[in-house]
Amino acid sequence: MFRPRRALLNIPGDDWHKLEKGAGLDVDCVCMDLEDGVALNRKEAARATIVQALQSLPFGRAERLVRIQPLASGAAEADLRAVLPAHPDGIVLPKADADGLRRVSGWMDEEEAAQGWPAGSLALIAIAETAQTMIHLQALCSATPRLQAVIFGGEDLAADVGAVRTAEMHELAFARSWLVLHTAAYGLQALDVVYTNFRDPDGLRSEARRARELGYAGKQVIHPAQVPVVQEAFLPDEAEVAWARRVVEGFAQAQAEGRGAFAVDGRMVDMPVVRRAQAILARL
Ligand code: COA
Ligand code: MG
Repeated sequence: MFRPRRALLNIPGDDWHKLEKGAGLDVDCVCMDLEDGVALNRKEAARATIVQALQSLPFGRAERLVRIQPLASGAAEADLRAVLPAHPDGIVLPKADADGLRRVSGWMDEEEAAQGWPAGSLALIAIAETAQTMIHLQALCSATPRLQAVIFGGEDLAADVGAVRTAEMHELAFARSWLVLHTAAYGLQALDVVYTNFRDPDGLRSEARRARELGYAGKQVIHPAQVPVVQEAFLPDEAEVAWARRVVEGFAQAQAEGRGAFAVDGRMVDMPVVRRAQAILARL
């Protein structure tokens, strides 16, 4: 079981005010960014600012991640070597592919050994956001045991395939489902695409709910106002929890009485339904 990652807040790595602000939010993960949230001439400043944040800001329960630049930029290794000594909890690799993940994981092995940290203790999260990566998801998901989650980089993917972005997301529907099938098959978490309209909590809530219905564990966010909306959307509601408890209790009783299938609320319950109920309770 991985730690809950319902909301993963992206924070531009060169913006001390936003980093401080992020530390004060009750968010599952903060992702200090060196990639697209930072201008080209601010990358150096961002590395130094992230190191300072890791060393001095009280992030509380939040997982502290750093998004480095993609391998193709030529700057990924330098980003990693700059931030890892400050001991983030994990690294997010954008424009990821299987080869890139293995290289980054290898550098993380070296740093763990050099620092005396437990081998494999730093987490790695991939962003799948190119058509090439999407058609090779098996390779991506099995690239390294360090990999814990895959983010659906829907915005970049839409640009890559020449899709038109719509609110209904039908242009991304296949890729979004395809990704969660792969993460499930490899025991990883799937994290949903950013909702860029950060002044629209209702739209955000329904997109997050839909992602949860598909099997996603969480969603990338870009603004503090999105954090509580998303964190709540990825929790089961009261009615679901009550139903799950009835199913799990009914199951125990049915088993004791030697029955495989039984009824809850007038519907047949058997093993797949019980597993779904157990999964709901496991999210609490
Ligand atoms: N993390 C932490 N704090 C943030 C934040 C973030 N991602 N986005 C905004 N804030 C802060 C602002 O600094 C502001 O703080 P203040 O009230 O103390 O001044 C407060 O939250 C309200 O912000 P608001 O004024 O509504 O938005 P903005 O115009 O400052 O910022 C964005 C809007 C989109 C520029 C900003 O949300 C952002 O940079 N998000 C991340 C973008 C990113 O990383 N993109 C690339 C990866 S997808
Ligand atoms: Mg991207």
